Amino acid sequence: MIRKFFSSTAEIPEAPPVPRHIAIIMDGNGRWAKKRLMPRVAGHVQGVERVRDVIKACVERGVEYLTLFAFSSENWRRPPEEVTRLMELFVLALEREVGKLHKNGIRLKIIGDLSRFDDKLRRLIWDGEAMTAGNTKLTLTVAANYGGRWDIMQAVNAWRAAHPRSHEITEAALAEHLSMAYAPEPDLFIRTGGEKRISNFLLWQLAYTELYFTDTLWPDFDGGCLDEAIASYQKRERRFGRTSEQLVQP
Ligand code: IPE
Ligand code: IPE
Ligand code: MG
Repeated sequence: MIRKFFSSTAEIPEAPPVPRHIAIIMDGNGRWAKKRLMPRVAGHVQGVERVRDVIKACVERGVEYLTLFAFSSENWRRPPEEVTRLMELFVLALEREVGKLHKNGIRLKIIGDLSRFDDKLRRLIWDGEAMTAGNTKLTLTVAANYGGRWDIMQAVNAWRAAHPRSHEITEAALAEHLSMAYAPEPDLFIRTGGEKRISNFLLWQLAYTELYFTDTLWPDFDGGCLDEAIASYQKRERRFGRTSEQLVQP
């Protein structure tokens, strides 16, 4: 396998002015609905609309990878009615949007433990990925039943199955088996909804990602909010362990 991407811990990666990869925890749908005395699911419906806008904004700004946290491995703990509605929404969104993604040159990837999803949803995921596999404008990854710990564990187990006689796994070997091995590490992480935590999202890949937290609730997040996040990212000094002085070209 040809290695296309830098590991932020093994080498010093590029720090592009426009983030090449943005990863977002889309949080605050429930509170958005509650403020309007609506059921939580109304917030999720509105949230799906925002996904469309943010994909478009990313394409316009030259972002190459957009990764969205849609359902965590811990979200099964929610009331069963909400989980059911979320699954229905996921099915609906795939049915409605995959054709449009394809028309717009977007490659769709789903990461997470798909074994808990029903056959219909799994089929839609596989078909959507297959249809869009050759597209190059933007890679849209949706993390569904995803957990950062699950990802690391499945990578270790996959490596062990492939190398039954080896004892010591290397960082590079593990990274190759992570579910997002096809993408560079995120440059910018955004969490909407005001919480300041990672909630078991991309634990490995966020090692040197710039973190951005906003109180804006996901159903209110638009292209302008994305620009604010990118502007904040552009003011950061990405040192990757070095000193400021080392960054100045002689
Ligand atoms: C994020 O919004 C969407 C999912 C986790 C599926 P929430 O539903 O967590 O919204 P809040 O945090 O309750 O407002
Ligand atoms: C994180 O949001 C997961 C998604 C946005 C899909 P949560 O709302 O589930 O996170 P916690 O429970 O507040 O940490
Ligand atoms: Mg939440």
